[in-house]
Amino acid sequence: MISIIIPTYNERGNLEELLRRIDSSIRRISDYEVIIVDDNSPDDTASLAISLSKQFPVRVILRSRKSGLSSAVIDGFRAAKGELLCVMDADLQHPPELLPEMIRRAREHDIVIASRYVRGGSVEDWGFFRKLISKGSIALARLLIPRVRGIMDTSSGYFLVRKDCLNLDELNPRGFKILLEVLVKSNCKSICEVPYSFGLRKSGESKLGLKAILSYCLHLIELSSPLLKFAIVGAIGTLVNLIALWLLRYPLGMEHELASISAIEISVINNFILNDLWTFRGKRKDGLLRSLLSYHFTNSLGIAAQFTLSSMLHRLTGLESLLSQFAGIITGFIINYALSKRLIWWGK
Ligand code: GDD
Ligand code: MN
Repeated sequence: MISIIIPTYNERGNLEELLRRIDSSIRRISDYEVIIVDDNSPDDTASLAISLSKQFPVRVILRSRKSGLSSAVIDGFRAAKGELLCVMDADLQHPPELLPEMIRRAREHDIVIASRYVRGGSVEDWGFFRKLISKGSIALARLLIPRVRGIMDTSSGYFLVRKDCLNLDELNPRGFKILLEVLVKSNCKSICEVPYSFGLRKSGESKLGLKAILSYCLHLIELSSPLLKFAIVGAIGTLVNLIALWLLRYPLGMEHELASISAIEISVINNFILNDLWTFRGKRKDGLLRSLLSYHFTNSLGIAAQFTLSSMLHRLTGLESLLSQFAGIITGFIINYALSKRLIWWGK
């Protein structure tokens, strides 16, 4: 059986046609159920869905308030009875006629993605700028997340996945790119893409604003390797270090050496806290104080390595100063990362 999960918010006008087209495209192929996850739409999509359940195999999950696309899909996953789960939008931009082909491909693949960006796929009504953002955001995902590198449409909202390869408890309900979550956090081995043409939106406008772009970038960082977060923390730490130095040196009038060592200490503590709460969240092996102490140790080792390499490169090979220093910084960073990760946080 296949469970088709459809999140809805104000989709009353599309529901009947959608259910009719789903029914006529897969009735003869497979048992199915449609799970509508509605967030109490003001246009009362939910009651229409309930009344249509006399005609079609529909179940309705009614949630009290608008809580986002990904969390609606995850609630649908939890309620689903089928061994194949399909996610589809209600506004007919995802053509139900593609389902038979997707189901066929699911015999050999764990995830089947309906794709706008493989040969044969397309988007109908987008201008240059919108296309650029869409393609750029996918390129960024492929750059930052090794697991999705071979996939052309990592942002698709239309896909099919075998229920037994999902780790439901791992999926992050925030955000709106549920496919990325599924790709990174499930145990699927084989993935394929089926081309389709992303249709014209019937009404309303895209949610894509600056806020969505920012939240997408944070989501990518969240899914990428901890190395990137560690580097971001390092960059923030450098800023904290310089600001602290300035404050201690000028408004407070401290001697340079004392201000410098204090600023370094402040930035080390800052980095430790950020790495503990963010980069390696929940992965610390020891108590807080002990770990903070070991963190000082790994940091000083990294700094020593940085200094040694930088001066050796410069003195022995005659490499230019800035380049030597840069090579030192990168090496020190890698050593810091590797040691911190192994000694203080999860260790694998
Ligand atoms: N329950 C619930 N709660 N449903 C929601 C919510 C919410 O907070 N927000 C949106 N929906 C429903 C809409 O009613 C629609 O059925 C579907 O989710 C997608 O919303 P759209 O507003 O139509 O999104 P889009 O067309 O910009 O983008 C969609 O297609 C893209 C390409 O496949 C999304 O699925 C994107 O994630 C996807 O990249
Ligand atoms: Mn849409």
